[in-house]
Amino acid sequence: MIGSEPSDPSWRVFFAAVPTGQVSEHVAGAAAALTPAAGDRLVPRSNYHLTLAFIGEVSAAQVGVIRSIGAAQFAAPFTICFDAYEYWPKPEVIVAVARTVPSALAELWRQLHSALAAHGWALLPKRLRPHLTLSRNVEQPPMMPALAAFEWQVGAFSLLRSVTSDGESAYTVVDTWPLLDKREDT
Ligand code: 2AM
Repeated sequence: MIGSEPSDPSWRVFFAAVPTGQVSEHVAGAAAALTPAAGDRLVPRSNYHLTLAFIGEVSAAQVGVIRSIGAAQFAAPFTICFDAYEYWPKPEVIVAVARTVPSALAELWRQLHSALAAHGWALLPKRLRPHLTLSRNVEQPPMMPALAAFEWQVGAFSLLRSVTSDGESAYTVVDTWPLLDKREDT
């Protein structure tokens, strides 16, 4: 990959949309409606996010390339409705999922993966499964109520850095770009 040097400090980065305000309240409400088992770890509110492309460990020099990829994307804003809980046994998480994928989200996802692949990050995810992780370390399939569906008008996306210490991850925003449909500009 471009610019990789063994001595570079490593960054764990991913593109995501980050809920704020009322949407963040809805996500917290969805998490609060779950009955956690011993050992489950509710995701802290500051870590709520909708992953668009998980890149993983990169060098500090590569972060500049990834930021330029983010800045070069044009995709329309979209409204997404989270309308069900799912338990995913392999990562041992409970997520809120959007069963309908907005076409502008699918386009942004495709564009980001295509641009990353062009720069050497061939992530090859099988498909887009829009989700918000609510709880981790969930070892057994839990009983889950129906999700009180909520909508999110997504007007921006970010590059996030994940830093793990003492087993806890904290995400910081490296950069944020508005979602703009290029066609509106022409
Ligand atoms: P998720 O909760 O949306 O699935 C930062 O590490 C975030 O990137 C995680 O919270 C997780 O987001 C996502 N992630 C971590 N490892 C991943 C992987 N191997 N593939 C895809 N997404 C990953």
